[in-house]
Amino acid sequence: MKHLLKGVSVLGRHRADLLIKDGKVSGDGDVKGADVIDADGLIALPGLVDLHTHLREPGREDAETVETGSRAAALGGYTAVCAMANTSPVADTAGVVEQVYRLGREAGLVDVQPIGAVTVGLAGERLAELGAMATSAAAVRIFSDDGHCVSDPRLMRRALEYVKAFDGVIAQHAEEPRLTEGAQMHEGQVSIRLGLAGWPAVAEEAIIARDVLLAEHVGSRLHVCHVSTAGSVEVLRHAKARGVRVTAEVTPHHLLLTDERATSYDPVFKVNPPLRTSADVTALREALREGVIDVVATDHAPHAVEDKECEWAYARPGMLGLETALSIVLDVIGDDWDLIAERMSRMPARIAGLSEHGHDPAPGAMANLTLVDPAARRTIEPAESASRSRNTPYAGMTLPGRIVATFLRGEPTVLDGKAVR
Ligand code: DOR
Ligand code: ZN
Repeated sequence: MKHLLKGVSVLGRHRADLLIKDGKVSGDGDVKGADVIDADGLIALPGLVDLHTHLREPGREDAETVETGSRAAALGGYTAVCAMANTSPVADTAGVVEQVYRLGREAGLVDVQPIGAVTVGLAGERLAELGAMATSAAAVRIFSDDGHCVSDPRLMRRALEYVKAFDGVIAQHAEEPRLTEGAQMHEGQVSIRLGLAGWPAVAEEAIIARDVLLAEHVGSRLHVCHVSTAGSVEVLRHAKARGVRVTAEVTPHHLLLTDERATSYDPVFKVNPPLRTSADVTALREALREGVIDVVATDHAPHAVEDKECEWAYARPGMLGLETALSIVLDVIGDDWDLIAERMSRMPARIAGLSEHGHDPAPGAMANLTLVDPAARRTIEPAESASRSRNTPYAGMTLPGRIVATFLRGEPTVLDGKAVR
């Protein structure tokens, strides 16, 4: 099937017609018989790539499946997502990562690239079969114990050394566990006022500082998940200036929301790392613009109703993110399309080694792309989410931008703002 995007603006540049044919963006001008999409006023971006998605399958299919999460991703403009390893069973063997990979292919809505666990069962004691996962059909390149920190420095060093052989990367959930025991929210003025146990910024910053030094020492690649504090930005800035091979991500929610939200006691705002202060939010936005933070990653964390609609202390941390990420970024960064493409597609594709993704829509490129209506505004309605869960912190908010269509290898996964299947 051929598709002609009429009058589209690639990355906000001048209007043109874009032909999609045989899975690629075509330059041959043979538009006969093409399905025509009126793309006047729409922006074409390279398909978004998420480095941090929780799909919950296997194990918690009541909260999300590979298929429902893939659909939410496509609706958010994504063509590839990296699936976190904290499933049940944990993705710490070739068998489990191959299962997730196969489920992704079967759903066929985005490319699902499994992330492997660093340690067996995420227990932080023994290295998992990193080599077997790397050489499996899932070709794992990113390893992470996300949800948990690889807090043992010796184990972290060995993991960094091990993945060097196949240009892998360790994605660290930076949280010194001894400093966050019992923590419920960011440690600061608001936690004092509410009488909730605090998660201090230094618990994140101390691990990032340690890990950039370890990465420098062994010459390996480190990726820092969900950076949330101004202090972490300074540590990263210093490490990058020294030439350390470190990349970092920030979530949409850490770019928009602050710890003041906890005053509602609504567990939809409970997340790990926690929402921080407005000074942190300002520093994160600036770091994203500058490139001290390389990418926006969603940390899409669906949770079943009983795990969220309960007392704050018992609620699981995490919030939905795939369907709203681009709108939040538009809201906080503005319509700098080249920057958005860099932070949400090109860089994440490069970090994950997804060579078919992260290419601007131009003749010859694989047609993994998304079409955005920048003028649209929409009010977030949790019941309309394609996710199996409902824990969005943006319910009722009116946000800019709407994904009109998404194409995966030239075939639409979303048309007219609706999933094609
Ligand atoms: O808020 C979070 N939720 N942070 C994590 O690190 C894990 C995630 C989850 O799996 O729900
Ligand atoms: Zn995490």
